[in-house]
Amino acid sequence: MIWMASFPKHILETQQFKEGKLIENLFSLASEMELFDTPLCKLSDEQIDRSEKLVLPCKPRTRVLANLFYEPSTRTRFSFSSAMKSLGGDTIETESAGHFSSAAKGETLPDTIRITSGYADVIVLRHPKEGAAKQAARYSSVPIINAGDGTGQHPTQALLDLYTIKKELGRIDDLKIAMVGDLKQGRTVHSLAYLLAHRDKMKMYFVSPEQLKMRQDIIQYFNEKHIDFEELADMKDIARVVDVLYMTRIQKERFGDNAEYEKVKDAYVLDERVLDLMPLDSIVMHPLPRVNEISPSIDGDRRAAYFRQAINGKYVRMALLKMLLDPPAEYI
Ligand code: CP
Repeated sequence: MIWMASFPKHILETQQFKEGKLIENLFSLASEMELFDTPLCKLSDEQIDRSEKLVLPCKPRTRVLANLFYEPSTRTRFSFSSAMKSLGGDTIETESAGHFSSAAKGETLPDTIRITSGYADVIVLRHPKEGAAKQAARYSSVPIINAGDGTGQHPTQALLDLYTIKKELGRIDDLKIAMVGDLKQGRTVHSLAYLLAHRDKMKMYFVSPEQLKMRQDIIQYFNEKHIDFEELADMKDIARVVDVLYMTRIQKERFGDNAEYEKVKDAYVLDERVLDLMPLDSIVMHPLPRVNEISPSIDGDRRAAYFRQAINGKYVRMALLKMLLDPPAEYI
């Protein structure tokens, strides 16, 4: 397979994934990673040969991933660690980096990045400030992966979201997708919206309280690209027609004023009453963690795809690491 598009050096925002071939190849590689993340004894000889070609070379030394997290995480940090280890690499890690790295002593992000890039082959950065990943990329000698920059973007989440849609529904075009919740401050929906804007025949529904409406830069982007979208306040109005209902958490930590959070925190609760309206072949997604916005009582329904979605993150991140550090010959 010949792939002409060049893979970006840094993964910073989903606008970098305009080229359909980039997505197609990344997802093809993610599927391979998923297949090979199994005990060797379960693979055929042919599959073992192929898996040996795909893993990261461990000579002369194991590749190292630095997880530099200034905000809490379960899925992103663990799945990147797990992905790197499954590829034969290793990790160095700091959680609560504001307290447990030298940032607590006043070290600037550029200096921390300069130093960390001397110890690692790739840096996964989560930071509370929008634009931090782009700033880090200017000072890093190794690839930076934006694992969430404040209310900005979370591009690897969007890629695993799209991979999940492909696995669950068999297509990533011609879809009706509703994003529900905090669309103003939710970085996962920002990244996913920019990514979906490049797919064909999309109909988007942005469902939020008035004070948490989708950011203007994304509305403008959708208008420029002539993407069909509607903004509304009640998810029941579109539950009957959607292919994907993408729920998000109202993020308490993003509100300066707790009284403002209290006003909207229970604006949306997906339970059986809403699920019963949805088509049987639709899916419910959520980047997680959830609080009250999805009732655990619907977890057993086939349409609840959010735990499968989280697992997919490992394979898409394996594919991203592979493409950044050592792309297979047929993908370059
Ligand atoms: N979806 C996501 O980013 O989850 P974590 O905050 O647990 O990494």
